[in-house]
Amino acid sequence: MNNDILKTLYSKKDIEVACKRLANEITEYYQGKESPLVVGVLKGAVIFMTDVIRQVDAYVDMDFIDVSSYHGTTKSSGKVDLVTDINSDPKGRDILIMEDIVDTGRTLKFLIENLTKRGAKSVKVCTLLDKPEGRVVDTHSDFTGFQVPNEFVVGYGLDYEEKYRNLPYIGVLKPEIYQNN
Ligand code: IMP
Repeated sequence: MNNDILKTLYSKKDIEVACKRLANEITEYYQGKESPLVVGVLKGAVIFMTDVIRQVDAYVDMDFIDVSSYHGTTKSSGKVDLVTDINSDPKGRDILIMEDIVDTGRTLKFLIENLTKRGAKSVKVCTLLDKPEGRVVDTHSDFTGFQVPNEFVVGYGLDYEEKYRNLPYIGVLKPEIYQNN
């Protein structure tokens, strides 16, 4: 698996430091507020979410949502589908969405609008990676790990055709792995 990686962007240590920083920012932000509902976006954000929230010193509820826009390729299809909804009622809740990466911004915009329409009190966003050059719609993250260049990255939850999620670091995939797609 490691042979498919062109270069490492963020090492295990870099990610650990970023997760600690984000956990501190989130702890500080939610002090004195009602316990937020932390919504992890499946499947990419799972590894990141568990590493961050274990270091957050605040009461939090956990839930998950599954949306799809890439359909197993390296380009967004432009259409976001809700695959599996959260179990909790978002009405009146402070929600913290945890994403792996914000690229075109379509997924995030869809999620923020969906949860807001259903009566969420507030919707904040924590993303491990932000790819600003990929942005097609206007959206932003409140807590961001790293800004990445406009390359397809994998590892630490991020996949290509469901593989590489278990790499402990974030890397750029060799183009020959996906060039025939
Ligand atoms: P967006 O809707 O284009 O912002 O994309 C959000 C979703 O696309 C993320 O949750 C990822 O699942 C996926 N994605 C975007 N860029 C990458 C990448 O470089 N590697 C792996 N997945 C990506």
